[in-house]
Amino acid sequence: MPEHDDALDQLVRAVRSSAKYGSISEDFVRRVGAAELSKRRSLKGAIKATKNKLHQVGGAYLDAAGEYSRWLAMLRGAAAQGDPALRDACRAIMAHHASTRERLPILETFFAETLAGIAPVTSVLDVACGLNPLAIPWLPLAPGATYLACDIYHDMMDFIGAFLALVGMSGRAFACDVIHEPPAERVHLALILKTIPCLEQVDKAAGLRLLDAVRADYALVSFPARSLGGRDKGMIAHYEARLRDLLTERRWPVQRFEFETELAFLVDKRG
Ligand SMILES: C[S@@+](CC[C@H](N)C(=O)[O-])C[C@H]1O[C@@H](n2cnc3c(N)ncnc32)[C@H](O)[C@@H]1O
Repeated sequence: MPEHDDALDQLVRAVRSSAKYGSISEDFVRRVGAAELSKRRSLKGAIKATKNKLHQVGGAYLDAAGEYSRWLAMLRGAAAQGDPALRDACRAIMAHHASTRERLPILETFFAETLAGIAPVTSVLDVACGLNPLAIPWLPLAPGATYLACDIYHDMMDFIGAFLALVGMSGRAFACDVIHEPPAERVHLALILKTIPCLEQVDKAAGLRLLDAVRADYALVSFPARSLGGRDKGMIAHYEARLRDLLTERRWPVQRFEFETELAFLVDKRG
């Protein structure tokens, strides 16, 4: 309906004019905005609700606006010195996104243990990656492996793309909405880390659709093991039941791993 389209264009312009949401994929803002507009008559209310939703699924994880130029300069300096300076810089930057910050205490074991059975990994698709590609030095990758990464933020993906080039990793980082356009590239491993609960806030069926759509031999799927308040047994049981429920009709073998801050499942999608 033209009236609705006009309101949607206004909403998208209003949301993307703010510094906090300006770098989010326009398609994603449009889809979230359309859903919010359909629930209410007021444009102002729909703009506010769209911003709230974008905060919940993305902005809430970032400390502040990413300082991408400064971080890249820091990484360049560290890369010139090699390890351990590069790993130290990656750790320091990962602390700026809540998801990777929670993984820092388990970084030495998380990828080594979950991926031991399939290492060396020859290609990765890091779905809704946040700053996780900075964990590449901890991943058991094969020489010449490729790394694809995506998230809703253009500026974050430009930064991740520059990081991949800096560490000589082939691949690319791109902005996308994985709810509507899951990347189609075939890979050895898809990382779907702490992403399903986030996507399900926008679309209840998005988790299973994504698991079905990714063209990977294996998917490492994880969930947070605790809330901000600390370790929470209830959350582990809840997310485990959610994953088992999602996979009831799939015959994919699943291996379970429990860490202090994260619950992970390696799903074998080859069958
Ligand atoms: C909980 S964080 C997980 C980040 C990363 N996977 C990790 O574990 O470190 C969720 C991420 O999903 C991204 N995101 C949310 N909705 C998305 C969508 N529809 N398409 C792509 N990325 C999305 C957010 O920007 C955020 O970086």
